[in-house]
Amino acid sequence: MDFQESEFFIFKMKEALETIIIDVRDTAPGLENRAAFEAYKATIQGPNGSLTAVMKSMGKLLREEKPAMGKLINEAKAEINEALSQALATIEAAELTAKLGSAIDPSLPSVEGDRGTLHPIAQVREEMVALFQRIGFSVAEATEVETEYFCFDALNIPKDHPARDMQDSYYLPNELKMQNVPKHKEEQYLLRTHSSTVQIRTMLQKNPPIRIIAPGRCFRRDTPDATHSANFHQIEGLYVDQDVSLTDLKATLDYFVKTIFGPKAKTRLRPSFFPFTEPSFEMDFFSPDLGKLSNKWLEIMGCGMVDPEVFKAVGIDPQAYTGFAFGMGIERIAMILQGVDDIRYYYQNDLRFLKQFA
Ligand code: DAH
Repeated sequence: MDFQESEFFIFKMKEALETIIIDVRDTAPGLENRAAFEAYKATIQGPNGSLTAVMKSMGKLLREEKPAMGKLINEAKAEINEALSQALATIEAAELTAKLGSAIDPSLPSVEGDRGTLHPIAQVREEMVALFQRIGFSVAEATEVETEYFCFDALNIPKDHPARDMQDSYYLPNELKMQNVPKHKEEQYLLRTHSSTVQIRTMLQKNPPIRIIAPGRCFRRDTPDATHSANFHQIEGLYVDQDVSLTDLKATLDYFVKTIFGPKAKTRLRPSFFPFTEPSFEMDFFSPDLGKLSNKWLEIMGCGMVDPEVFKAVGIDPQAYTGFAFGMGIERIAMILQGVDDIRYYYQNDLRFLKQFA
């Protein structure tokens, strides 16, 4: 064979390869089932296939022409195989779908949905509840709709007491019949202004020793601003037993503050007044690790020793038992912990805010 003949073969072989590639690209994606696929594949790569024929004609080339042609054939083969295996994958997926009767491919990884998270107030509530549970307090609850008796009278806040003005509430129409809210004579229903109602309801149900923590929603007719919201949350604590002392109160609250704000936090009790505790205190704390709020005394709760008048209202003998109580706003603690400077952010349901605490 001379050079010209060889050149002619090379030309013909290149032409044949191009034709095969174009044909495969056109035909393979339209093959509908495995039988059609195998039949088509045989026309290319089978013993009498078009690609096989091109490979066989290598023998007609001059030796020095072979390597270059071999390379071209390999490249063409790779391209053909790629198109064929894509077509086969499509056919296999269709077979699986047919077998399952739907277009779901269960072998695919599942799509990760948006996961919800606890609201920042709920996160702080859980943390607070958990740390009191660790020292033996259990969770108590009561209704948000209350009567004046449980919200005020039984807590030693008589009708004309100024504390009732400070905790002005939302009163419900008298004729409303609420289920499970015992009707007290001539009483109006209202939304509870503080969680201290749970003290009364618990002491009426159980005998001492009592050690409860009561997280819950409270309501006041406050004009909303950066630190006031008409709807907010408190945590109430109550411990009643023989010989409960002020030292127990101080130790319990020290533990609370150091656990939640860090071991360097310091506490102090400042004399104050609440009708249902005697003596009464405001508890402040101070921490070097609080960013902008570091090294300032911050007031976080009211507390004191249960007033004997309260014990009398629930039929507990004040000679036999003593107790301490405390109550604090969850939002206040959350704002300090989370560095939030406006309480209203918690209620706007803005995901850009809420997601920062996820
Ligand atoms: N209930 C009070 C309030 O909302 C807070 C409080 C003060 C609760 C003293 C207590 C306590 O249990 O002993 O302002």
